[in-house]
Amino acid sequence: MYTPSNLVQELFTSQAPLLAPSLLAADFSQLKEQLDSISTADALHLDIMDGHFVPNITFGPGLVKQLRPHWAKVMDVHLMVDRPEDWLEPFAQAEADIIVFHLEAARHAHRLLQEIHRLGCLAGISLNPGTPVSLLEPLLPFLDQILLMTVNPGFGGQAYIPEMASKMAQARKLIAESGRPILLQVDGGINRQTIGQAATAGANFFVAGTAVFKAESPAEEISCLRKLAATAWEGQHPTPALSL
Ligand code: DX5
Ligand code: ZN
Repeated sequence: MYTPSNLVQELFTSQAPLLAPSLLAADFSQLKEQLDSISTADALHLDIMDGHFVPNITFGPGLVKQLRPHWAKVMDVHLMVDRPEDWLEPFAQAEADIIVFHLEAARHAHRLLQEIHRLGCLAGISLNPGTPVSLLEPLLPFLDQILLMTVNPGFGGQAYIPEMASKMAQARKLIAESGRPILLQVDGGINRQTIGQAATAGANFFVAGTAVFKAESPAEEISCLRKLAATAWEGQHPTPALSL
């Protein structure tokens, strides 16, 4: 059995929509300053790309481990890699709090979820735009987070795909029926124009790369995006708060 850290418990009991800036859009020549600029965020989203599952390469567990002492909140690792089973332990050792892999890259998704829990992390699965949410149904009892891609994975700065809203609504329904505390995260093209649509459709955890790091004030952008998401939630859904 795994014991979620206090950090993660706070995330699950938050009354507000959660915001995770994606490091991919940061200025890598000034990483510490960039982390300081987003200290009000709920989590740091770390995009791991291997040049195989997606046509781009980013960084690995070594960098995540180096960042850990400079980031006091949740580290949310998004594995966009083939053979995710090879990378669970290295990222757990780098002190990731949440590890998310792609269903399209996993042969034994249930085994991977078990392994992530054994390593002491929360476990999530991500779906590409073309992958149906219904595939997650048998895995709901073992999931802590669902990540729905709102762009094709591989690059930051792409345009949000509005048709993904129906997948968010389906996932929200499945989560409600499961009665389990599962975070519903969306990733790709989230900004002031799109976050409200995603929140209305049922998402409560938002990744934003370009919108936050390219803003004049990342802190102001985080607060603005949170407010827009909260306003969209009001009247649509009961509180997004969950309890472990
Ligand atoms: C895309 C990544 C995203 C990306 C989001 O493959 O998974 O996390 O960094 O970046 P923006 O917010 O710029 O679309
Ligand atoms: Zn991502």
